[in-house]
Amino acid sequence: MARRAQDGVGRRSERGFPRARERHQVAFGEVAFGGDAVGRLPDGRVVFAPLIAPGEEAVVEVTEARKNFVRGNLVEITRPSPERIPAPCPYYGDCGGCSYQHLAYPAQLALKQTQLAATLRRVGRLEPTDAPVRPIVASPLEYGYRNRITVHLRDGEVGFNAAGGRRLVPIKHCLLAQPEVNALLAGLAADPRRRREDGHRTLRADRTRRFFTQANDSAAALLLALVEQLASPGGASLVDAYCGAGWLLKALRPRFRQCIGLEWDRYAIEAARAEVAPNESYLEGDAAALLGEALAQADATDTTLLLDPPAEGVAAAALDAVVARPPRRIIYVSCHPATLARDLARLRAGPFRVVSVTPVDLFPQTAEIEAVALLERVDPGTEGKPQINAD
Ligand SMILES: C[S@@+](CC[C@H](N)C(=O)[O-])C[C@H]1O[C@@H](n2cnc3c(N)ncnc32)[C@H](O)[C@@H]1O
Repeated sequence: MARRAQDGVGRRSERGFPRARERHQVAFGEVAFGGDAVGRLPDGRVVFAPLIAPGEEAVVEVTEARKNFVRGNLVEITRPSPERIPAPCPYYGDCGGCSYQHLAYPAQLALKQTQLAATLRRVGRLEPTDAPVRPIVASPLEYGYRNRITVHLRDGEVGFNAAGGRRLVPIKHCLLAQPEVNALLAGLAADPRRRREDGHRTLRADRTRRFFTQANDSAAALLLALVEQLASPGGASLVDAYCGAGWLLKALRPRFRQCIGLEWDRYAIEAARAEVAPNESYLEGDAAALLGEALAQADATDTTLLLDPPAEGVAAAALDAVVARPPRRIIYVSCHPATLARDLARLRAGPFRVVSVTPVDLFPQTAEIEAVALLERVDPGTEGKPQINAD
C-alpha cells in the first residue's frame, strides 16, 4: 500500500552511513489539492503525505524535512476512513498518475469540492459569498474514460513517471484508459523498434487529432452542457480565447450573431477553420496580444467571453485587456484551481462579480480539478443587484 520511497532521498547521513528514517504516528485532517493529506508531527511541524484519506490516522516515514514542514511516505494506516476502498490498479501507489483510487468515488467528489473552495479562499482570498461553489458534476465513468494517454519510453520500457519523481514505472495496462488506448499501449510495448526510442508518446483513440481535445468524452459532454446553460440565452458577440479547434465555440455559435475564436496552435486553427458558419471567425496568435482587438470588434454592450486557458491560467496582459473592455459575461473554464483563484481575484478587482464556480470531475481517481466559473460585469448603478441568476 505504501508509495515506494524515492531512491536515495534522506537515506544516508552526511558520513555516508545508512540512516533510519524517522517514523511518526499522525492524525491527519484534510487532503490538500494535489492529493497529500495534511497533519502535524509532535514537534508542531506540518506533515504532507499521499494515499491517506481525510480523518485517517497513519504511520508515515519522513522523506524530506524542511524548516516548517516535512513530507512523508505512508507506512501503515492505523485508523482507516469508512470511505477507504481497495485500489483496483496493480501500479497504484507507485505510478504517479492516480491519487484517489483508495477512496470511494462520492468521497473523491466531496474532496475536490472542498479543495476548490479552500484554494479559492487561500489563493484568491475569495470567501463563499465572493465566489459561490456549486455542487460538483460527477464523471459518468469512474474508470476506462481516457481517450488518450501520454506514456514515457526509457531504456526499452514503456510507462508513466513514478509519484513525485522521474523514475519510470513500466505499465502494461492503464485502468483510466479506454480499451482502444490500451490496445495501442500493448502494441507499443510489444514493438521492438519503438522500444528503442527514448521520449514520450501520446496514444489516442482518435489518431487523426494533432491538437488539444478533451480527454474524457462523457464528462466533457456534461461540461459542454454546463457552458451552454451558462451562456444562455446567447447574445450579440461571443469571443472564445484559447479556443483550440473551436469545440465550445461551434456548440455555442447558433446563440450569437458573431463569434470570434483566438488560438495559437496552427493545427487547431486549421481544424477550426475547416468548417465554419457565416458568423464564425478565428484569429491565430497569442490570446494576450489578440484579446484587445477581438473585444474591440465585438459588441461592447452584449459580449460573452469564454476563457479556457492551460493550467498557467490567463496571461496578465489578457486580463488587462478584459478589464479595459469589460464584456457583459465571462465563462472561465479552468483546469487549475490556484490560477483560477488568482484570475478571479484580479477580475473581481475590475468590474466583475463571480456568480458561481462549478467543479466538473473530468479526471476521476486523479488529483486534477476542472471548474467552470461564471462572472458578470457590474455596471455603475447596478452594484449589489445581480443581473444573472446564480441558479
Ligand atoms: C485547455 S485548451 C482548451 C481548448 C478548447 N477550448 C477545447 O476545449 O477544446 C487551451 C488551448 O489554449 C491554447 N493556448 C495556450 N496558450 C495560448 C495563448 N497564449 N494564446 C492562444 N492560445 C493559447 C492551446 O493551444 C489550447 O488549444
